[in-house]
Formats: sequence, C-alpha cells, structure tokens
Amino acid sequence: MSLTRPDLAALPAYKPGRSPADLARELGMPEAIKLASNEVPFGLLPGVAEAVAAAAQQSHRYPDMAAVALREELGKQYGVDPARIATGCGSVALAEHLVKATALPGDEVLYSWRSFEAYPIITAGAGATSVQVPNTPEGGHDLTAMAAAITECTRLVLVCTPNNPTGTALSADALRHFLDAVPTNVLVVIDEAYREFVTDPEVPDGLEIAGDRPNVAVLRTLSKAWGLAGLRVGWLSASEPVAEAVRKVVTPFSVSMVAQAAAIAALQQRAEMERRVAIIVAERARVADAMHRLVPGIPETQANFVWLPLEDRSAAFAAACEARGVIVRPFQGDGVRVTIGTPTENDAFLTAAAAALT
Ligand SMILES: Cc1ncc(COP(=O)(O)O)c(C=O)c1O
Repeated sequence: MSLTRPDLAALPAYKPGRSPADLARELGMPEAIKLASNEVPFGLLPGVAEAVAAAAQQSHRYPDMAAVALREELGKQYGVDPARIATGCGSVALAEHLVKATALPGDEVLYSWRSFEAYPIITAGAGATSVQVPNTPEGGHDLTAMAAAITECTRLVLVCTPNNPTGTALSADALRHFLDAVPTNVLVVIDEAYREFVTDPEVPDGLEIAGDRPNVAVLRTLSKAWGLAGLRVGWLSASEPVAEAVRKVVTPFSVSMVAQAAAIAALQQRAEMERRVAIIVAERARVADAMHRLVPGIPETQANFVWLPLEDRSAAFAAACEARGVIVRPFQGDGVRVTIGTPTENDAFLTAAAAALT
C-alpha cells in the first residue's frame, strides 16, 4: 500500500529548464546559454543586492508575515488597496493557493491548453479536476469554448495572458466579453506574469479590466521583468474576501525577509526595468522575424519568449540547439519555447536554429 495519494502517480512532474553549467560541462564549453525559463538576462536591478545584504543581516528573525511594507508599496504603485493584495512565494504559489481557496475534490478548474504547465499540477494537487479547453489554431485562448465549458462544478478559471508558452495575448473586448459571460460564483484568475512585456495597445491591463469585479483576481510576479526569479515573490490583486481567503491558506512566512526587501528595492527601479524590457521587446521582434522565415505559423508574441510550433520536430530541434550550447524548452510533439536573451545570446540561438532547420 502506498503511503501517499494514489492519484499523484498520474501527475506530471514540473520540469525546470536544464542547468547551463551541466550542459557546458558536457559539451566542454566555457558556458552554455539558457533560453528556457523566461528569465530576463540582465542581472539584478540597481539597489537590490544591497537590500538583500541588509535584510540577510536580520534573517535570524521571522519576516513580516503580512508583508505590510511590500503590499503598501505595491498598492501605491498600482493603485490597489493593500487589503486587496496578497503576496506569495512566486505567483505560482498564489495560483496554487487560489485553487486551494476555491476548489474541493471533485470541483473543476478550467483553463486553456496548452498553457502554463503548473496549472494541471496545482489542480491535481488540490484533488480538483482539470478541464482543459484546446487553444485556437493560433495558440490563443478560445474564450467562447471556455465559457461554454463552465459547469456547475467549475470553481476557478485560469486565463493566461500573455499565454505561456505560446505568447498570445487577449484583447480588452474579448476579455471583457468573457468576464461578463462567467457566472459570478466562479472566480476568474487573470495570470499576467508577462504583463510588462506587452506592447500591443489592444491588450488590456488586467488590473484595469478586473476593476472591482468581485469574481476576478489578477496575478503578477517579480520573477520576470523585475529580475527576481530566484527570490520568489509574486502578488495578486483580488476582492477583499478572496485576498483574505488566500492569506488564510498561504504557507505562513513564505515570502522571506530577503525576498520582501528585494521586491521593495526592485520596485523603486521602474524606469530601469522598463529600459531593460524595451531591449527584450526589440530583440523579440528581431528573433521572431528571423524565425518566421524558418518556421511557419509562429503566433504573435507579447511575452519575453517566442513559440515555435514545430510539432514532432520539437525534441530534435531542442537537442540540436543544445548540441550548440543553447538550451531552449521543448514541449514534446507540440512546440518549442525560446526565451529572449541578450543580443549575443539571441545571435547564438539564431545560428543554432538556422543550422538545425536548414
Ligand atoms: C504564466 C505564468 N504564471 C506564473 C508563473 C510563475 O512565476 P513565479 O512563480 O516565478 O512568480 C510563470 C512562470 O513561468 C508563468 O509562466
């Protein structure tokens, strides 16, 4: 007899990107390039390392469990009442807490597929049932089909915009129309982990779209544009009862003192964050243009990555890039996600990709 839940055997394990140090060792190269985890490549924002060092000195104490200073800073910068904000150990933890706060075993969590690979894991982890609505042929959410898939058992709908891994983003009209169609007893979570990379004016800010709709929550992260992936800070804005419920189920003290200090310091650097994001956005256009010539059907991306719908060539393409020292992220039989790196890293990827595909 198993000591753990038998249903977990069917659960896919989360696959982190491969370690560049390992690959470099294997290939006998000084270093390998990692374009597999959607990080921004420019290091910490100014002032963050100093804030981390100072907070580390105090780390024999527990952190502020309510993350008051961080929630106040976020509230000030984003125009959200701090009572509506919850923080967590990355936005993936908050997605998990939202599932835990809404769904019981047998309840349904609905999302588009393919999307963020953590969604099926956190849903199954809560004993809830995943309902996956296939993406449109262009890799976007089919909001009409998603609205139609809502049943009496649906407790939570995850909307990922821009979508990981396809990069597609929803327009304001489409999103508003969808939110109007969702019953008010179903929570919609707009996962905007890549919001800072959006340049299309048709793509709305989820915080504005959500407004004060009680059944809409918005997830944001400090991991991507703000450069804190390794420190694990995410936040959400929701109606007060939802934010409070999340704060109840959150693992106590899960945002460390160092992470809180780093997040507050990073948030002081919005202009520098935006400057870095602008470099990524320009490189995104360059990489996408070059790849359009090699791969048909690449969806328009609003994130810091490009999706290559290579289908059954995905694994071979990723292996060919790795053999040239560039780690990308294959999704078996479906496609390959390539994170936008520095111009030099992107050049190395484009050289590897051209060699692999021509
Ligand atoms: C769509 C989406 N949401 C959430 C996350 C989680 O980010 P974090 O837990 O680092 O905040 C990711 C990370 O890859 C993501 O792609």
